[in-house]
Amino acid sequence: MQQQMILVVTLLGMLCVAIPFILIARSTASSVSPTPLFDDSSRRTLLWVLMILGVAVTVATLWVWPHRVVAGASTQAVNVTGHQWSWEFEPNTVKAGSPVIFNVHAGDVNHGMGVYDANKRLLFQVQAMPGYVNRVEYTFDKPGTYQILCMEFCGMGHHLMTADLTVTAADPNQGAPQ
Ligand code: CUA
Repeated sequence: MQQQMILVVTLLGMLCVAIPFILIARSTASSVSPTPLFDDSSRRTLLWVLMILGVAVTVATLWVWPHRVVAGASTQAVNVTGHQWSWEFEPNTVKAGSPVIFNVHAGDVNHGMGVYDANKRLLFQVQAMPGYVNRVEYTFDKPGTYQILCMEFCGMGHHLMTADLTVTAADPNQGAPQ
């Protein structure tokens, strides 16, 4: 919900920046520049090309919202609480191949939940905040042991804030008609 709100606010903000540019471009379209780099029509073409390009890049890169949360029948939920200095996962075992929604919050101060695969590659991260639940969706492709590290300095024991998340093989019946 909050993420949709951020998207709407961002798009409205972009519109607020774009409108003055459009108005200025319109109001100067008929005036004559003393030493024009481009003539009016090629400048107008350039402006349109840039605007279309900008909109296309924005739509293409925002189309798949990185933290989208889609609850479905096969969705698994994991409640995560960060404490100084440990992680609590309920449950701490999930299945590969179906989406996991992490409900992440903190019991004391801000923490950062970073999830790493066996090659120490960061898969995703989300802030763990007191008094607020951040939701993030992720689907694990492969079974294995994934490591959780705290990504925000949270005191003397920050480096001790690690945990393991076990991902088991995908349910063989998954996707089959019930
Ligand atoms: Cu928790 Cu650093």
